Amino acid sequence: MDFLDLVKRRQSDRRFEPTPVSKELVVGCLEAARMAPSACNSQPWKFVVIDEPELKGKVARAAASMGMNKFADEAPVIVAVVMEKMNFTARIGSVIKDKEYSLLDVGIATEHFCLQAASMGLGTCILGWFNEKEVNKLLHVGNRRIPLLILLGYPAGEIRPKARKRLDEMSSWNKY
Ligand SMILES: Cc1cc2nc3c(=O)[nH]c(=O)nc-3n(C[C@H](O)[C@H](O)[C@H](O)COP(=O)(O)O)c2cc1C
Repeated sequence: MDFLDLVKRRQSDRRFEPTPVSKELVVGCLEAARMAPSACNSQPWKFVVIDEPELKGKVARAAASMGMNKFADEAPVIVAVVMEKMNFTARIGSVIKDKEYSLLDVGIATEHFCLQAASMGLGTCILGWFNEKEVNKLLHVGNRRIPLLILLGYPAGEIRPKARKRLDEMSSWNKY
């Protein structure tokens, strides 16, 4: 598939078929995330795959509140993206340049995961709205942050057209 077609195919899926996802396909997504770039090649992430139904149900409930993310439990797999400590050089760079490289790194790796999923006919939804404390407790990740969850499964909906800013709104050449 042409890369731009793949990018357009990736969407936030909020309805999933109950069909389980094979371990092989999940590992394919993890491999794509593993290859993601990161500041000073720090790779400050750990992807925790949750497919055990009882635990997944609890994590899904931690994502659903105030009318948001009620669909989370439909996904047969939830992946928690845990932020790990950056390596020394990335930490120093982060402080000197006042940029939270690890958050950027996690975002890029998450998108690698989602694009690989889309390339294999799977659907994903990145979730930033969830009870992080509760998920931390459920997964025993101590004081590490969990910036994102990813829902993964076979999508039950159609591909939607993208709602995006125009090219001339989101880009310019040679001046701001
Ligand atoms: C950092 C981040 C957090 C998000 N959190 C949620 C969320 O908690 N619930 C949800 O339904 N969608 C969430 N989304 C999905 C966005 O709403 C979605 O990417 C955006 O509307 C564009 O739609 P598309 O992904 O279908 O192209 C999140 C996306 C990102 C990148």
